[in-house]
Amino acid sequence: MAISRPQAQAGPSARIERFNFTERGTHWTHSIGFLLLLLTGIFLYFPPLGQAAAGVGLSHLTMLNLHVLTGTFYLGGPLLWWLLGNRRSLNRDLEALDVWDDDDIAFLKSPLGVVKEGVAPPQGRFNAGQKVNTILLFASALGFGVTGLIMWQSNTHIFPQQLIQGSVNLHDILTILTTALVAGHIYLAALHPTTRPGLSGIFSGYVDRAWALHHHPKWVKEQEGDEEAARGAGADVT
Ligand code: HEM
Repeated sequence: MAISRPQAQAGPSARIERFNFTERGTHWTHSIGFLLLLLTGIFLYFPPLGQAAAGVGLSHLTMLNLHVLTGTFYLGGPLLWWLLGNRRSLNRDLEALDVWDDDDIAFLKSPLGVVKEGVAPPQGRFNAGQKVNTILLFASALGFGVTGLIMWQSNTHIFPQQLIQGSVNLHDILTILTTALVAGHIYLAALHPTTRPGLSGIFSGYVDRAWALHHHPKWVKEQEGDEEAARGAGADVT
């Protein structure tokens, strides 16, 4: 039986697999979807930009259709990865996000630990900040989906006017809050010196093992323990 497991390679510069193809695909489908929604949404929201777009043939209606189509990709894409990709790994990630221990609570009590080398309580596959980030992004995606659907159907008179107006307001508030959250996420992922080494994980799938051991020690030990156990049982760990 072939078991797919993250691998630690031998040697001082050993790397460890953090995200497989399905996990990376899910991340990029959702995040590119979000960025395209933000872009098309900005054109819909600011009239001068909308007029500039109309000048090059992208009318308000075209932009709205593009926005709705991108919204489908943003919400439906990850679902398709879950249905057609490596569901087991996505389920494992969902489980990791759902399990909270004392170290996670301690992490949240001193959230700046992640940006200062060496002072954060030991973390698992995702640190408590990442867990909160993911839960909030998940909730905001749901909020965008529901409010977007109500707004999209505003001409059909299915929904009362008050609900439509409430949805417009909530959609706008969610945009501001989610953009701030994503901006913080991109800063930590791509720029901050102590967290930036994890960036390769979302592109190549692999991160430096020493970095992972420092930032996600419980996860590295768990992975390598699993690998040992699988080898001991004679499984093909590929
Ligand atoms: C634009 C919308 C984006 C959304 C909604 C999004 C969402 C997420 C979520 C929910 C996670 C899992 C947990 C976490 O790290 O918080 C994640 C992981 C990650 N994202 Fe993003 N992301 C976005 C954009 C980006 C961009 C542009 C980059 C790179 C510049 C990036 C780099 C990463 C990295 C490196 C990880 C893995 C961190 C780790 O090792 O655990 N993300 N993203």
